[in-house]
Amino acid sequence: MNILSFESSCDETAVAIVRDGREIVSNVVFSQIDVHKIYGGVVPEIASRYHIEKISQLTEECIRQSGLTEKDLDAVAVTAAPGLIGALLVGLNFAKGYAYARDLPLIPVHHIRAHVAANYLAYPELKPPFLAMIVSGGHSHIVLVNDYTDYKILGRTKDDAAGEAFDKGARVLGLPYPGGVHMDRLAKEGNPKAISFPKVHFKDDPYDFSFSGVKTAIVNYVHNAKQKGEELSVADIAASYSNAITGILAENFLRCAKEHHQKTLVIAGGVSANSMLREKLLAGKSPDQKLFMPPLSLCGDNGAMVGAQGYYEFQAGHRADLSLNALSAFSIENQLC
Ligand code: KG4
Ligand code: ZN
Repeated sequence: MNILSFESSCDETAVAIVRDGREIVSNVVFSQIDVHKIYGGVVPEIASRYHIEKISQLTEECIRQSGLTEKDLDAVAVTAAPGLIGALLVGLNFAKGYAYARDLPLIPVHHIRAHVAANYLAYPELKPPFLAMIVSGGHSHIVLVNDYTDYKILGRTKDDAAGEAFDKGARVLGLPYPGGVHMDRLAKEGNPKAISFPKVHFKDDPYDFSFSGVKTAIVNYVHNAKQKGEELSVADIAASYSNAITGILAENFLRCAKEHHQKTLVIAGGVSANSMLREKLLAGKSPDQKLFMPPLSLCGDNGAMVGAQGYYEFQAGHRADLSLNALSAFSIENQLC
């Protein structure tokens, strides 16, 4: 089954064709990073406009690269939630139009479910149940994936997402947007123990996260040092800051896995590309736990992950009609249709 899939929830316009939920036939992504960089963050209105400009030509390009014809397509999948509402609506309406014109089933996909499903494209042996940690620019979740369309949230952020914390810290250090990847590179040159940034743990919600404190701490640290005229080692700050964020993520995830007797662990989302996080999880997991980490090319937003999850939504009988709407916020536990 070939699924044409669309992703436009934030600043990537992405179209892919995925076969049977597991095989990428073609996958094209247009990243708007260069456009938003000058503003230091995503400008929603500009994101929507670029999606409109790009989505049609990307679809043509995706089909051309696949070597298939439009007649070979069996369904259309699209990210319907969560995300920037204007941005989501572009992909959603384009997908609706495509499905209607070709008389194909329309499958709405949850963005965070799709991030998890990116792993299905890389690991044929991976099947639920497993424990997943999804860490992106907008979300930080620990989720029990009971089945392909059955999720239970065990931990979540109480304030900012891990990606937001990376991006804010990077901005304070003068690194380009989005800062996560730059912080990752710089951290490799610094001492992660040079500065002690706060790590928040909640006694009653041991798997929940909070990153607002560490964000404030880096702002204050840099501000105070500048006021005192102290020389700053940006590499040491990047390493110590990354150490605090990845420490919280790894500790909570591994603790949750242990206490819930989970042997299969999966990470997903943009921040799952972080090298320090990967090292900590590999070092901290027990030998009988298997850890799946997406290839770096599938950590960030892409259309292929939507096609992978779309396949399993279709198998579960989930399809939408043309009344489908986009939602800026929606729990991974709930069904879009
Ligand atoms: O999943 P994603 O592409 O988009 C959302 O759904 O939000 O995640 C983007 C986030 C950004 O905050 C970006 O800085 C972060 O992922 N990111 C990283 C790394 N690569 C991307 N954070 C830390 N280390 C990285 N290597
Ligand atoms: Zn994402």
